[in-house]
Amino acid sequence: MPRITVDDVEIEVPAGRTLLQALDDVGLLMNGVEIPHYCWHPKLSIDGSCRLCQVEIQGMPKLQIACNTPVQEGMVVRTKCDSVRRAREGVMELLLVNHPLDCPICDQAGECKLQDYAYEYGMTESRTREPRRALKKNLELGPTIVFDQERCILCRRCVRFTREITGTGELAVLNRGDHSVIETYPGVPLDNPYSMNVADICPVGALTTKDFRFKIRVWFLDDVPGVCTGCSNGCNIHLGVANNKVYRYLPRRNDAVNETWICDAGRMSYHEIGSADRLKLPLVRASLGVPEATSFAAAIESAAARLKKLVETKGAGVIAGLASPHATNEDLFTFRRLLDALGTETAGVAVVQGPADALLVKAEKAANAAGARALGFGDARAVLDRLRSGGVDGLIVMGHDVLDAAYLGGVDLLTRLDTLIVLDTHHSALERIAHVLLPVRVAAEKHGTLTNCAGRVQKIQPAVEPAWEALDDGEVLTRLGQALALKNMPARWDVRAVSRELAAAHPEFAGRDLASLADDGAPLASTRADAPGARA
Ligand code: SF4
Ligand code: SF4
Ligand code: FES
Repeated sequence: MPRITVDDVEIEVPAGRTLLQALDDVGLLMNGVEIPHYCWHPKLSIDGSCRLCQVEIQGMPKLQIACNTPVQEGMVVRTKCDSVRRAREGVMELLLVNHPLDCPICDQAGECKLQDYAYEYGMTESRTREPRRALKKNLELGPTIVFDQERCILCRRCVRFTREITGTGELAVLNRGDHSVIETYPGVPLDNPYSMNVADICPVGALTTKDFRFKIRVWFLDDVPGVCTGCSNGCNIHLGVANNKVYRYLPRRNDAVNETWICDAGRMSYHEIGSADRLKLPLVRASLGVPEATSFAAAIESAAARLKKLVETKGAGVIAGLASPHATNEDLFTFRRLLDALGTETAGVAVVQGPADALLVKAEKAANAAGARALGFGDARAVLDRLRSGGVDGLIVMGHDVLDAAYLGGVDLLTRLDTLIVLDTHHSALERIAHVLLPVRVAAEKHGTLTNCAGRVQKIQPAVEPAWEALDDGEVLTRLGQALALKNMPARWDVRAVSRELAAAHPEFAGRDLASLADDGAPLASTRADAPGARA
């Protein structure tokens, strides 16, 4: 570990790294040591083209670019001296020579590195009189991204992303010298499944997503850390929230899970949070079979009365449970408790499968399938076999994944049930036949933990509050346990207390409760470093 001195502070950094990489590795880059940079990105190859990262290194005759200068034992670096400041001013003047005066109408304003450094190192007046370069505006590069060529500073991050990360190579620098521009190859749209990441890494407002542009000024947004629930990879995200509404997902760096990327499908999945498809009212099927809207209290009473009658007439063995792989560990732990307290052993989880790739996207289209399995929920098919053989009369279902073609493919088999209690977030065919239907919260609306495919436990927190009454699955199940007067069920729902109890009851989850987890999560105690999908 070489020791170097940066602005009179001695630090130990990893060997074999460049100065920017080493400072990033130890968490100091832009977090104590400010070295502005445009072309360098921690997950892309080094380009060395923007020249903004120049620093003074003792013993070297000229300034050096920090992104491409290897650290050496005893290196003495200055980032705040006059020569460095003058270099930054020079680079900024050059970059601004042709840059349009678009800030007031640019969607990147407020989170634009060119704007930030122009304030710090830019000149107040231009020294050139020539007109600025006129290039293409509002160019659609593909279905997701719009390009403003005039704003581009040719850092080439987007080009390297498509070559090095997705391997699709749609983008290139065309022409030479001051005629250089970024373009897609003729007839090759930018349409890979990760295309929207180029807008995140573009340091200026040249690349913007069609989905987010002009929806809201970014300074009105709060960034709430969370986890994408689109598949079992559990990519870390920031939810951009204003006025109790989610406007976008952005990747949140976690080198053990998603580095600095998310897939386009996961990014767009925020639309499901406030969609018109959300369930908003508890329903109970009245005597003639017509669903009637009611209160949570009445719906839970009705569910409890039905279950009680079944236990009294046929025994708890005819009741089964299907857990949701979208629910949190705390919800699922509570479900397990309820089923155990009822005295039923028939329980499982249905997990919808879909396409996967080698970068992030996993086949299991749920955020907590691994958590459900770790908490003892086996394959839902065993429950369905029992149902087919006539051994189940009452079913409590969380979510509607069981309707997928790989499991039921429809509701027919469920119509023979004496009692069907459904906890769900969105409308599905289940509501046509459910005896009791209870609307529950989605991940963006609650506290809890999720276990990803590599066994990493990560926490979520509410970013928005539903505009209607919706409870955590765990709260519905706790209230149901109370209505059934079951022993061993808590008196009220307290997600933090449940998280602690879960960690105490399951050694794998020890130290992985809500209060103990850091923002980047922690692997289950049993997770091997070489488990599929594990990267650290
Ligand atoms: S479009 Fe953005 S990311 Fe691509 S080269 Fe230009 S400034 Fe860099
Ligand atoms: S890979 Fe999965 S978890 Fe990651 S962003 Fe895509 S859908 Fe979400
Ligand atoms: S960040 Fe070093 S030259 Fe661009």
